[in-house]
Amino acid sequence: MSGNPLFDESYARVFGSGVGLSEAATPFFESFYRHFLKDQPIADAFSQTDMNRQVSMLRKSFFHLVAFYVSHEPSAELARIAHLHHRIGIDSSYYDLWLDALISAVREFDPECDQATELAWRWALTPGLTYMRLLDRLSPSDPE
Ligand code: HEM
Repeated sequence: MSGNPLFDESYARVFGSGVGLSEAATPFFESFYRHFLKDQPIADAFSQTDMNRQVSMLRKSFFHLVAFYVSHEPSAELARIAHLHHRIGIDSSYYDLWLDALISAVREFDPECDQATELAWRWALTPGLTYMRLLDRLSPSDPE
């Protein structure tokens, strides 16, 4: 799929042969949020959020991150998500924690995940995170 067999094989062990959009991927994203919300400022950011809806949104949006890695083209949906995070004031330093939480979930769901596989996941998701950071930096601040 992506041209990196370490990523592709691990992705298939975690999500099956689909692209992560099926309901079967839900426990993976629930695990991701368990890791992500361990950090207090992150938990505070989600204090008003319906986490069932959030899991479902991330399950859908995750596809756009992986698609960006494969196609080198950000989808309109990825741009919308990046602008939304800028608008609600998500500090871009949290994207590192986001990636660490994702890796913790991968290690939980892929028993064969070793250091090289972890690097392949980090490599695959970095373009999307870089894009989110870039749009955050380039977007004008909202008027007071
Ligand atoms: C590449 C990484 C990320 C992706 C793909 C992502 C994806 C999403 C999506 C799809 C939504 C729902 C958008 C909608 O309502 O239409 C959302 C909302 C949100 N995200 Fe993220 N997110 C990411 C990183 C982060 C980070 C690092 C934080 C830090 C705290 C964060 C905090 C939030 C918050 C607070 C909301 C609003 C929840 C609500 O509606 O109550 N996200 N995110």
